Amino acid sequence: MSDIILPQAGRAAILDGKAAAAAIDRAAAEAARALTPGLGRPPCLAVVLVGEDPASQVYVRNKARRTEAAGMTSVEHRRPADFPQEDLIALVQELNADDGVDGILVQLPLPGHIDERAVVEAIDPAKDVDGLTAASAGRLVLGAPGLRPCTPSGCVWLAEQALGDLTGKSVIVIGRSILVGKPAALLFLEKNCTVTLAHSRTKDLPGLCRSADIVVAAVGRPELVEGDWIGEGACVLDVGINRVDAPEKGEGGSKLVGDVDFEAASVRAGFITPVPGGIGPMTIAMLLANTVRAAAGRKGLPIPENLPG
Ligand code: GUN
Repeated sequence: MSDIILPQAGRAAILDGKAAAAAIDRAAAEAARALTPGLGRPPCLAVVLVGEDPASQVYVRNKARRTEAAGMTSVEHRRPADFPQEDLIALVQELNADDGVDGILVQLPLPGHIDERAVVEAIDPAKDVDGLTAASAGRLVLGAPGLRPCTPSGCVWLAEQALGDLTGKSVIVIGRSILVGKPAALLFLEKNCTVTLAHSRTKDLPGLCRSADIVVAAVGRPELVEGDWIGEGACVLDVGINRVDAPEKGEGGSKLVGDVDFEAASVRAGFITPVPGGIGPMTIAMLLANTVRAAAGRKGLPIPENLPG
């Protein structure tokens, strides 16, 4: 399979999220093209960015680039870091009312003076391409159709590429965030996995990891998961993106590492995602798929069946 790079002897196969994401982008582009006559225009994603957080600026730029490359319309709304909460909610409400907008994404984190939940809840659930509103989260809990969060959908997709049908697999999700950990646990449950949702108070995390077929690390702590926590042949999905000092790169040098000690885990795992280039690129791919899904759903058009996520 093109998105799995086969292993050297005694090492895990690398799950190439960049290649998998490119294939999903192509499927979303094809679905967007097929929907365009029915919509009378291409699907449209509106992204709201408040403030100047450098990482958020990079994400937002990449979202715009890939949305347009997939033949969809990208609209960006940038506001200063001191933008008032009520004005931000008013902007979201304007985008809700705009029939030319199919998906709305408010880039997180928001500046400290803003109540993130209040802003996310202002998004029309029909346009909630991040899957973060209470309505979308409720549909996920119920197993009802709805827009699913993007990064966890990317995790499930890559696990299926590696292992096929996930029924009966044991999964440990480390980290209980609203953005990744909790929805990831529910999405793996939807695939008939047996799920442990671990967090900072969990006892014997190494032992629980060792018995898991799939390890999802989503805590944001550099290389927290050690190599000998990984069971022989397990599938390791590393959601962490942590910038750390790298003196070997010269003075002031830095590099990105995940939440898993990649080198040590690669010796035991069957499959592993690298950082960067693993789960990261999957998030935008699933966002594009959700934008197509939202556009079709709002207009009562059929959702293309081969759309991933
Ligand atoms: N910030 C980092 N990841 C995400 C994401 O998936 N969605 C939003 N809205 N903000 C993010």
